[in-house]
Amino acid sequence: MFSAMKYSDSRLHLIDQKRLPNEEVWIACGNLESVAKAIEDMVVRGAPAIGCAAAWGIAIDAANHSHLLAWDQYKNKFAEAIARMSRTRPTAVNLFYALNEMQKIANVFTSDTTMAMATSKLAAHAQYLFDDDIRTCRAIGDHGATLMPRPANILTHCNTGSLATAGYGTALGIIRSMHREGRIKNVWVDETRPYLQGARLTAFELGQDKIPYNLITDNMAAYLMQLGKVDMVVVGADRIATNGDTANKIGTYGLAVLCRHHNIPFVVAAPKSTIDFKISSGKEIPVEERPSKELKEVQGIAVAPADALVWNPSFDVTPAELISAIVTENGVFKGPRFMLRA
Ligand code: MRU
Repeated sequence: MFSAMKYSDSRLHLIDQKRLPNEEVWIACGNLESVAKAIEDMVVRGAPAIGCAAAWGIAIDAANHSHLLAWDQYKNKFAEAIARMSRTRPTAVNLFYALNEMQKIANVFTSDTTMAMATSKLAAHAQYLFDDDIRTCRAIGDHGATLMPRPANILTHCNTGSLATAGYGTALGIIRSMHREGRIKNVWVDETRPYLQGARLTAFELGQDKIPYNLITDNMAAYLMQLGKVDMVVVGADRIATNGDTANKIGTYGLAVLCRHHNIPFVVAAPKSTIDFKISSGKEIPVEERPSKELKEVQGIAVAPADALVWNPSFDVTPAELISAIVTENGVFKGPRFMLRA
């Protein structure tokens, strides 16, 4: 199983997801700014992976200030580091969850705390968040696999696998667990325009794990469903409001509408840390808009007039009423409309 990041020698090593699957290039980030930039530029992406990388970025920043000796001399800089990291990407709440976790560790430091103690506690907590995400994803995978008791054709959108998490994946974790139990006939992989996370990353991961898949363009999903070739759609999430409204990669809402029309279960898989307990509706979720270049170019090649005006929201919000079930590490929460077809 692939991992998107490794921490060693006070550096975060990230596989450059912009260059996959053509090249496997690792980037070493040795300071806060390089980790923040890697998140902004999508070298590392996917809600839980963003959270893990941000936590390591904070730990690295503390390590880089160990010459200050006392925590008190660094704590203002710590607040600046948290603020810088929180400006990287707005939608995935896992970023803010991870930063808050790091803040909670810092909150118990006192005037007696040395930088050596603070650095080691912050690094240990970043490692804990990383390990915990792997455990969480495995639990999501195993709970979600129970939703489909027979071999099935699953459609997924974006990348929610090892690259988007600390490992194993959320929606892709369900697919992995189903595959382990011999219940994957085929995975339909949406290419996921404009950034092609499906074509470049999900296809790459499924290929590595020898899970059978077929790549489709996003606009093929409706016809596939009409032909009866999709048994369940499983996607991840970047932020879930307490009423169940869910932000995920642009195109997710359209799939949910299609599922309702074709009576196909539409399942969201995410760790509890993706639930934003401060908001009660999807209307409160900030949706990131990405640069126009991402639409006008594919892998650096122009596919639209250079002066074309562009709208590029990176996510959309699926209303809870279209979601058949939400799977977290705690189990499966089925909506009233969950049903499996014979
Ligand atoms: O813009 P990205 O690639 O960070 O968006 C990723 C997604 O939308 C994923 O579906 C979501 O983060 C869930 S990842 C387990």
